[in-house]
Amino acid sequence: MNSYQNKMAKRKNIVFIAQSLDGYIAGPSGEIDWLDMVANPGGEDMGYLALMQDIDAIIMGRNTFDFVANYDGPWPYPKKVFVLSNTLQSVPQHLTDKAEIIKGKPKAILDNLGKQGLYTFYIDGGVTIQSFLREDLIDELRITTLPILLGGGYALFGDMEKRLTFEHESTAVYLGQLVQSRYVRRDIDFPLQT
Ligand SMILES: NC(=O)c1ccc[n+]([C@@H]2O[C@H](COP(=O)([O-])OP(=O)(O)OC[C@H]3O[C@@H](n4cnc5c(N)ncnc54)[C@H](OP(=O)(O)O)[C@@H]3O)[C@@H](O)[C@H]2O)c1
Repeated sequence: MNSYQNKMAKRKNIVFIAQSLDGYIAGPSGEIDWLDMVANPGGEDMGYLALMQDIDAIIMGRNTFDFVANYDGPWPYPKKVFVLSNTLQSVPQHLTDKAEIIKGKPKAILDNLGKQGLYTFYIDGGVTIQSFLREDLIDELRITTLPILLGGGYALFGDMEKRLTFEHESTAVYLGQLVQSRYVRRDIDFPLQT
């Protein structure tokens, strides 16, 4: 492998997200109170810390950033956050060393961040995930499904011009109620060999 191929081989974009049974990541007003519908007295992190160790940085949409930036609690990310936005001019003063605004198409963004030595990303936010999927730039989906029908809201997935197949890697049940499945992007011929 030459150095370009080496760098490309290191590339990995991971989605780690919770959805309702009907496929929403937030309710109609952006509400995510339902993410706490199952008691979690032991503070089970459901793979979050392991994910943080796997990645170089986080790419998230402006709506998701707005929510996290206004959240009344400690900053939750140990890695740099790149905020996708065409409208945001700056991040709040207290987050200037933690978050940076970027814009552009997903492929161009990844190429630019690769030049900074960043290759592995946690991709977050519905519109953002959908725009990466449209360019076939998601390598792994880690989706936790909660037992609730929201009836509407912000969808995890949207329209795409072509199908993308994934291979199921594992499924775990947390707190007896939350089902987390991992899928790895692979071109698969039908019928699936199991
Ligand atoms: N259930 C969960 O685990 C979970 C996880 C994350 C978020 N959420 C919730 O989901 C909701 C937000 O999701 P969302 O669907 O609105 O998506 P989002 O991806 O967080 O935000 C969408 C915004 O990101 C910007 N954006 C996206 N792609 C861009 C690109 N290529 N270039 C420039 N800007 C781009 C645009 O902002 P501008 O308009 O500024 O250009 C766009 O309006 C919030 O309620 C959040 O709390 C839930």
